[in-house]
Amino acid sequence: IAAKLADGPLKGKRILVTSGPTHEPIDPVRYIANRSSGAQGAAVACALRDLGAEVVFITGPAAVRPPEGVQAVPVESAREMEAAVQAALPADAGVFAAAVADWRVASASDRKLKKSKDGLPVLEFAENPDILKTVSQMKNGRPGLVVGFAAETNDVVENATAKRKRKGCDWIVANDVSPATGIMGGSENAVILISDDGAEEWPRMGKGEVARRLADRIAAALAK
Ligand code: CTP
Ligand code: CA
Repeated sequence: IAAKLADGPLKGKRILVTSGPTHEPIDPVRYIANRSSGAQGAAVACALRDLGAEVVFITGPAAVRPPEGVQAVPVESAREMEAAVQAALPADAGVFAAAVADWRVASASDRKLKKSKDGLPVLEFAENPDILKTVSQMKNGRPGLVVGFAAETNDVVENATAKRKRKGCDWIVANDVSPATGIMGGSENAVILISDDGAEEWPRMGKGEVARRLADRIAAALAK
């Protein structure tokens, strides 16, 4: 693998990226999930790889395929994603682009629920582990740079700034996914990078371009 890594400013750096939705089973044939194509996370993994990083790409069931030249770890549920992240540590940086389901079905059925026999199902939920928060607050072995994402529909800067503080991550890449923006499911993104230095608004651009800019910033931060 080492021979295939690109030469670049991230050479020798190990970076983990989470991406895509998670699927939380209701029964063996049904699930709940977040809307996420996984496109932005895959683009970030590509951009980091192109700068020479060793990328561990932990992905839920996404619409897009994992990029070439990364170590892809496919998972289904949030709990599987959390275990895969823990197994991938230590890392120099972590980028948490996954749209993790906040809740799982508390008592998923191991047999298919039937319409006629079982009546209307009533689902009870349990809270999933917050992977970003757990990694951000690690006492030992925390990656030097932890980057979260925040898809918001309103009060984007306020919500994302509070989220950054609550989780303890270094940066949050925030975006407005309210339907009027047309961002959700599209090929473009308009993000605000929130860090100790405040909120920096980037112009709307392709997801690949957002990823390349972010990778450049990560390379600069890890070089310090
Ligand atoms: N995240 C995570 N594990 C979770 C939930 C979220 O790692 N169980 C990560 C996401 O990958 C993202 C960041 O946390 O990088 C923010 O996710 P978001 O859903 O916006 O945050 P929440 O704290 O779940 O807040 P909300 O109530 O707005 O959903
Ligand atoms: Ca959430």
